[in-house]
Amino acid sequence: MSEPYYITTAISYPNGPPHIGHAYEAITTDAIARFQRMMGRNVRFQTGTDEHGLKMAQAAAEKGVEPQKLAAQMSEKFVDMCAKLNISNDHFQRTTDTAHHVASQAIWKAMEANNDLYLDKYEGWYSVRDEAYYDESELVEVEGEGGEKSKLSPQGTPVEWTVEESWFFRLSKYQEPLLELYREKPEFLEPESRRNEMIKFVEGGLRDLSISRTSFDWGVKVPGSDNHVMYVWIDALTNYLTGLGYPDKDGNFATYWRQDGDIVHIIGKDIVRFHSVYWPAFLMSAGLPLPRHVFGHGFLLNRGEKMSKSVGNVVDPLALAETFGVDQLRYFLCADVVFGKDGSFSAEAIVTRTNADLANSFGNLVQRTLSMIHKNMDGKIAPTETSDDDAALLATVSVATDTEFPRELKKLNLSGAIEAWMRAVFACNQYVDEQAPWALKKTDPERMEAVLMTLFGAIIQLSIAIRPVVPEAADRILDQLGIAQDHRNFAAIAEPEWIAELAQSGFVMEKPTPIFPRLELPSGEGEEAA
Ligand code: MSP
Repeated sequence: MSEPYYITTAISYPNGPPHIGHAYEAITTDAIARFQRMMGRNVRFQTGTDEHGLKMAQAAAEKGVEPQKLAAQMSEKFVDMCAKLNISNDHFQRTTDTAHHVASQAIWKAMEANNDLYLDKYEGWYSVRDEAYYDESELVEVEGEGGEKSKLSPQGTPVEWTVEESWFFRLSKYQEPLLELYREKPEFLEPESRRNEMIKFVEGGLRDLSISRTSFDWGVKVPGSDNHVMYVWIDALTNYLTGLGYPDKDGNFATYWRQDGDIVHIIGKDIVRFHSVYWPAFLMSAGLPLPRHVFGHGFLLNRGEKMSKSVGNVVDPLALAETFGVDQLRYFLCADVVFGKDGSFSAEAIVTRTNADLANSFGNLVQRTLSMIHKNMDGKIAPTETSDDDAALLATVSVATDTEFPRELKKLNLSGAIEAWMRAVFACNQYVDEQAPWALKKTDPERMEAVLMTLFGAIIQLSIAIRPVVPEAADRILDQLGIAQDHRNFAAIAEPEWIAELAQSGFVMEKPTPIFPRLELPSGEGEEAA
């Protein structure tokens, strides 16, 4: 049985439709999940929606609908986004599912049994209108007409000194165990810069965490305290367990949530603290294994600007996919943004990058080669005598696709893996130019066949390697090349007996159809950048 590998995205707030930031996380995580499957791992990939909490309740109130209804409507849009962007998740977890309430209550009880929860009072400046507590330092003092002073929240709403009953989690108890975790397993949190930030934060001292609310009821009920709902992050983080069947500890849970198992959380940099401080503390408290790896990716910026509803620059990923193509969007996001760093996108950047890499370099290589095989060899695949040049090219392609690409992707270095792949594509194009098979047609047809067969072999390896990033396009090429489904993986790249096998099977290649058309910039786009 192959080694289990569990990978998750964050679960998104469905308080509105998905935006390009959500798509970015889903696409990059999907590329990693597909890669691991192609490495022969037993992968489980989960995503979902985080439907409770004040934010959702407020969004629903603004729209004048019940939170349950808003959550259902918007969650559907996230499911749809996954389908349209070719996200290969095995499970989609909604936190309003009954099973999730059961799981959240189970982890709560496990933490309580470990003596880590206690009931106390939460005191602070509270704005009823914002339904939020504020720190003294956040408040603005204003003077009324009669000279009387009062305090306002940063939103300009009145605040009152409020004392609310709340359950607390003994986070302070986990300060040392957490620091030990970061020291002993640095891979637990990456990139390194985010780990250093968290170490500083934890070293600064951890206060116990308020983990229940009585001021609203849109959440999971606290077991035995019916007037409390759990703080949304307790329930949100537990989604990673719910999807595996927890509290049932057999089945998927036993397979994927194991001590020292490959458990990978891909999340954005804004929620690193929740995943690398609170989450391992909750798990330690509940006596459950910890994830192996939390990776905080950067933010996607619209032409270098933060996206926000008020600025009106939030982008719909499905509109982008519609304009440029799903695989083009996937390729751009994986290749152009360094995973872990912030990255910028624009229509011009997508067009420029995908035209350069996919249309002009790779697509052109494939189309030229396959057309020549079709025209000059009647589409027949035949083993040929190879020269040193051919062997050198195949060695370059093998190093890129079989060594460098997997090595970088294992480190989650998506753009680095794609760079290695592109270097091999360039080497192939250079080889075509040098060997000039079109000129050999008359002078040395045997040599022409050897050149085309070398390229044929190289294209198979290149198409297999890039499958995690552009699954549909790569499969369309591999279909044209006659490669069986069960050979479209990294074990097969390592032992390429393609040409002999295909020749033996009597495979004949049909007239190829171009896979990566050149993109045009939609009219009206790009003027601001000019
Ligand atoms: N519901 C929480 C996560 C709970 S996980 C147990 C949440 N939701 S979110 O909808 O705000 O964000 C979902 C994911 O998208 C997060 O990982 C977040 O960092 C990521 N992104 C949100 N905006 C983003 C960009 N502009 N760019 C890249 N990722 C971004 O946080």
